This record gives sequence, C-alpha cells and structure tokens, in this order.
Amino acid sequence: MKVNKVCCIGAGYVGGPTMAVIALKCPDLQVTVVDVRKERIDSWNGPFDSLPVYEPGLKEIIEKVRGRNLFFSSEIDIAIDSSDMIFMAVNTPTKTEGVGAGMAADLKYIEACAKNIAQVAKTDKIVVEKSTLPVRTAEKIREILDNQGRAGVSFEILSNPEFLAEGTAIQDLFKSDRVLIGGDSTSKGKKAVQALVDIYKNWIPIEKIITTNVWSSELAKLASNAMLAQRISSINSISALCEKTNADIHELSKAIGMDHRIGPHFLNASVGFGGSCFQKDILNLVYLCKYYGLEEVAEYWHQVIKINDYQKNRFAQKIIDGLGGDLLGKRIAILGWAFKANTNDSRESPAIYVTKKLVERGANVKIFDPLVSLSTIMRDIEDYKIDKDACSISSNIDECINDVELVAILTEASAYKDLGKELLIFDGRGINKNAKFSIGK
Ligand SMILES: NC(=O)c1ccc[n+]([C@@H]2O[C@H](COP(=O)([O-])OP(=O)(O)OC[C@H]3O[C@@H](n4cnc5c(N)ncnc54)[C@H](O)[C@@H]3O)[C@@H](O)[C@H]2O)c1
Repeated sequence: MKVNKVCCIGAGYVGGPTMAVIALKCPDLQVTVVDVRKERIDSWNGPFDSLPVYEPGLKEIIEKVRGRNLFFSSEIDIAIDSSDMIFMAVNTPTKTEGVGAGMAADLKYIEACAKNIAQVAKTDKIVVEKSTLPVRTAEKIREILDNQGRAGVSFEILSNPEFLAEGTAIQDLFKSDRVLIGGDSTSKGKKAVQALVDIYKNWIPIEKIITTNVWSSELAKLASNAMLAQRISSINSISALCEKTNADIHELSKAIGMDHRIGPHFLNASVGFGGSCFQKDILNLVYLCKYYGLEEVAEYWHQVIKINDYQKNRFAQKIIDGLGGDLLGKRIAILGWAFKANTNDSRESPAIYVTKKLVERGANVKIFDPLVSLSTIMRDIEDYKIDKDACSISSNIDECINDVELVAILTEASAYKDLGKELLIFDGRGINKNAKFSIGK
C-alpha cells in the first residue's frame, strides 16, 4: 500500500518536529499537521524565529519544507479525509477527575481524535498512535472507529510511540536508536505496518525499525520512560548520600557509568527530572499495575516519583538553610525556567516547584530563561498559584543576578557555568565550579 498523504493531529512538541523530519526525508509525501488550537497553527505558519516549539535545528528544516510538502492547518476534517495515514500526537495528561484521578492517563483527547476520524473518513485509513498511551488503548480506539465510522470504511491501527527527547529532538529523529511499530498480524495489519516502515526506511536503517504486536509497542514506551526516569532517581538518591559522606556524585557517576553493563547516560545528578512525560507516564504505569492487581510492582515504580519530589524539595530546603532559614525580603535569582536546557518547554519544570517553595517562605525571585516566553512564565506562576508580586522576570542574565542574595541554577545551560566568584551560588545541575552548594557534593 502506497501512502501519498499523511496528516498529524496535534501540532505540539511531538507533532511539529516529527512531521517536519518526515516531510524533509520524504519529499514525495504530503504532510499536513492540524490542531484545534488555532493560535498554535498560526504561529507554525508565522515568522521562523517565533515557532511555537524551540528545538535546535528545527527552524532550518521548517524553512526548507513549509509550503513545499509540509503544511500547518486548522482544517482538521479536510486533512483527515484526504489522508491515507493519520498520526495522533495529541496530549495525554494525567486525569484530574473521575476514576484514576491523579494517576491514570486522560484519554479524552485521543478519544476525540478517534471520533473525529470516524465521523469524517470516507475512505480506508491507517491510524497511528504517536501519543504515549496506556497498554491496550488501541482496543478503545478500534471500538470507536468501528462503531462510529461509516459503513464500508475500514481502519488499521498501529502503535508508533515517539522516543525523542526535547532539546535534542531533531538529532533523535534523524538518528533514532530504534523506530518501534506495533501492528496486527492479519494480512491487512501487516500491510499497514509495511506502509509505515516504508516511510521510515527513507532515512532509518532497516535493522533499527522493529515491528511488534500493538500491546508490546504501547507498553514499551511507558516502560522505557519509566526506566529512564528510574536512572535519574537512582543517581539522585545517591547524591543525597554523597552530601552526607563527602563522596562526590560526579566521581561516582563516572565510575559507575564506565561499567559497560550500566553505561554512562542519564547518570547526571540534578534537582530532579521535569517535562511533560516522565511523571505522567510513570503515574500511568503505576495505575495500570494497580488496575491489574500488581501492588508490589506499582509501589516499586511509584518510588521513582517520590524520590524526584524529595530531590526538588531537598534543593529548595538547601537554599532556605543556606540563607539562614529566613527568606523574608531575601532576593534570589532563578537561572533557568524550562525543565532542562535547549527547550522552551516548562511543563513540570523543577524550577517552578523550587520557586514556589522559596516564595512561600517569603523570598522575592528574579527569573531568567532566554528560551521561555514571558507569557509562559506568567502562566506558570498563575497556574501554580505562586505570588506574582514576589516574582519578576529578567530579560538578561546580568540584570537577573545583580543585587540578589543567592543565585539558584535550575537548568544546565552553558551560560550558567561561569558566573562571578563573589556570588552565592546554589547549583541544581552540578555545572558551576564556584557554587557554594552543588547537588551531590
Ligand atoms: N514532549 C515530548 O518530549 C514527548 C516525547 C515523546 C512522546 N510524547 C507524547 O506525545 C504526545 C504529545 O505530546 P506533546 O508534548 O507534543 O503535547 P503538546 O501538548 O505539545 O501537543 C498536543 C497538541 O494536540 C492538540 N490537540 C489535542 N486534542 C486535539 C484534537 N482532538 N484535535 C486536534 N488537536 C488536538 C493540542 O491542542 C496540542 O497543541 C503525548 O502523549 C506525550 O506523552 C511527548
């Protein structure tokens, strides 16, 4: 089956970069990215310097392919109906109400996509789960498509989870460690899998494209994220012990990572992980384990989140203690608002949690992050109920660190490595040699 047109529902951190790379690598394929948020589509179609997602290398790709074979549109129904293959890359946040609130993934956006496809599609479609989903979600999607779709129209559902990391998304997409495609073993299922393999094989070596059944693919993504986050919590838990014993976490990371059975990646101690994925995906995994009666397994994975919360709190408490326990009227510079360097994404950023705790203890904070927009920082301050009168946003680093009692480093941006020796620096990323306190030292 030859696919000529694809569409992606969801123009976010996954939909935008993945479709840009597919369009670049498959010039004969027409790729349309749609979203319910019109302002997001407008900004994908707007100036190249203010695209809604910042990723190194993304702008240059968009410059090449936008208007050639990559289109951003709000005409969702038209894009669905005219495509052979439809990717669903919508958000899957943690449920905030109903059964499983606070843990289970909220599938309302995925279900809305499936309903939309069912109502609109007049010809057969391959529907691809790109979002991270609980294992067996494809069953629900099939139910919606089969029950609500037009007579005579058939759907194949594939799972093709995305493994990119924000900040290195383009490199990750160019040189994926693996591409995972889960599909049915029926003859139609196999043809659908092959159609997606044919897209990826334009730039991914065939031995790196692995095909599995749908459930393995769905669960592999959740388990991968859980294991990555587990490494961070593991090294972070040891960082607390280093601080008590004069061992140095950087020396430990090196020594541990040189064991080829362990490997060097994801062993940097820090203020804790953030981002939209790790926490929600682990909570989702914990919920699934509980649902299937696997209490011990659920508790094992839940501990990864508990250590992460502990680490964020511990760093904030170090700052409070470092300023003598009383923050009333103290001024603190927050360097880095995103959840890590090289991204404009601040979802679940440790900086937000640390700032909230410091402000609650009476501090005034100055925030600097050149990649995160003023409106995003203001929205976070509001969403997390941080006293906005105690926060100001600096447009340059010198202004931010001027006239403060303490500088807190929250992301690993290289600009924070060399700051004046006279400053009282608390380093949540272990990058600054002059820091008075550095995680794990
Ligand atoms: N961000 C990452 O680094 C990353 C990496 C791998 C996987 N994922 C997974 O990919 C999925 C998407 O993540 P994201 O970070 O791109 O989310 P995002 O919030 O940046 O983007 C999702 C977009 O989907 C749109 N949307 C929601 N419902 C819609 C509908 N019915 N019709 C049209 N548009 C709709 C939203 O308006 C939003 O713009 C999630 O499941 C996430 O867990 C994310």
